[in-house]
Amino acid sequence: MKKQLFKPYTFPHGATMKNHFALAPMTTYSSNQDLTLSTEEEVYYNSRAKEFGMIITAATAVSKNAQAFEHQISIRDERYLDSMTRLANSIKQEGALAVIQLHHGGRMNKPGLYPNQDIVSASAIKADREYAATPRKLKISEVHDVIDEFVNATILAIKAGFDGIELHGANTYLIQQFFSPHSNRRDDEFGGSLQRRLTFPLRLVDRVIEAKQNYGKPEFIIGYRLSPEEREDPGITLDDTLRLVDELCHKDIDYIHLSQGYYKNTSIRDQADKRVIVDAIQNVVQGRVSLIGAGGINTMDNAEDALIHGYDLVALGTVALADPYIITHFEQGKEACKIIGEESILPSPLLHRLRSWKGLEQKGYIIK
Ligand SMILES: Cc1cc2nc3c(=O)[nH]c(=O)nc-3n(C[C@H](O)[C@H](O)[C@H](O)COP(=O)(O)O)c2cc1C
Repeated sequence: MKKQLFKPYTFPHGATMKNHFALAPMTTYSSNQDLTLSTEEEVYYNSRAKEFGMIITAATAVSKNAQAFEHQISIRDERYLDSMTRLANSIKQEGALAVIQLHHGGRMNKPGLYPNQDIVSASAIKADREYAATPRKLKISEVHDVIDEFVNATILAIKAGFDGIELHGANTYLIQQFFSPHSNRRDDEFGGSLQRRLTFPLRLVDRVIEAKQNYGKPEFIIGYRLSPEEREDPGITLDDTLRLVDELCHKDIDYIHLSQGYYKNTSIRDQADKRVIVDAIQNVVQGRVSLIGAGGINTMDNAEDALIHGYDLVALGTVALADPYIITHFEQGKEACKIIGEESILPSPLLHRLRSWKGLEQKGYIIK
C-alpha cells in the first residue's frame, strides 16, 4: 500500500495523476483586490504542484453572489480568464492535474463582506451561525440561473486549461443547502422530499457533464465534494447521503470527495450509529467512481490506512500548508514538518490568518 501511494493513478475518464496524493481545496484569502489570482497564490500552487499528483484549488466563486470569503478568487466571467489560465498553468507546468473547485456560498455569506451582494439560498432560513443573515429564497428562474453560472464557470475552466472541476457540494455551502432539509423547505421541483432535494445537485451534475461533452473533453474530470452529515435538526443524515452517493454513481463523474474532520469518522449526529462513514459509503460506491478522503491525514500510516478503508486517493489539507515538501518527505520515510511559518511558502494573508487559529497548536502544529 505504501508503495502504491507513490504510483500513478488514472481516473475513470483517463486523466492520470503522478501519485495518489491530492492537495485538499483550501481558501487562501489572498486574491488581488479585483479577485484575480495574486502572485503569492501562484507561487503557493506552483510549489505544491511539484509534490502532489492533483491540486484541487481553493473554492472559486462562480458569481458575484457566490463570493463568501475575503479576497476569494473568482471565475464568474471572461474577465477572469487570464487569471484562471495563470492558475491552471502554475499547477500543470509541474506535472500535477489542475482541478478547480467551483463554489457558491449561499446563506453562509457574511452580510457586508461584498457590497451589493444578495444573500440567497434554497429557502429563507437563516444558518445556525451567529453572523448569518436570513437569505432571500431564490425564485425558480433564479435557481436555473445559478445552475447556468456553474456551467459558465465550467466552460471557463475548460478554456483556461484546467484538467477538471470539483463541485463544492460540502461544508454547508449553496449546493449542500439545496440538499439539506434544514436550508431547503421549498415545495416545488427543487424541494419538499428527499427525492426533490436531489434535483439541484443532480441537475447541476448533468449540466456540467453536458458542457464537458459539448467541448469535446472526454478526459475532463468532474468531481463532487460532499459532507456526509449535518448537525442541525432537521439536517442531512448519513442515509440521505448514501442515497445522494448512489445517484452520483449513476452519473458519468470521476470522483466523490468526502469532506470530514477525520477521514474515519463515525456519525456526528447519531452516537448510536457505529458505522464508519467511509465504509458505509464505499459499500454503495462499489468502485463505480473514485473516492477521495480527507481529514487528519498527516502521516504515511494514515494515508496507507485510508487506502485500506477503501479510499482511492488521499487529500492532505493543513499538513500540506505547513510542509511544502511533504510528499518528498514521505517518500524519504520522514515525518511531515509541522512548523507553519515563512518557510511554508504560503500567501501572506493566509499565513497571517493561520497565526491566529489557536486550534492548530492543539493539532501539533508549531506556529512561527
Ligand atoms: C485554511 C483552510 C481553508 C480551507 N478552504 C476550503 C475550501 O476552500 N474548500 C473546501 O472544500 N474545503 C476547505 N477547507 C477544508 C479542507 O479541504 C480539508 O477538508 C480540511 O482541512 C480537513 O483536512 P486536514 O485535516 O488535512 O486539514 C479548508 C481548510 C483550511 C485549513
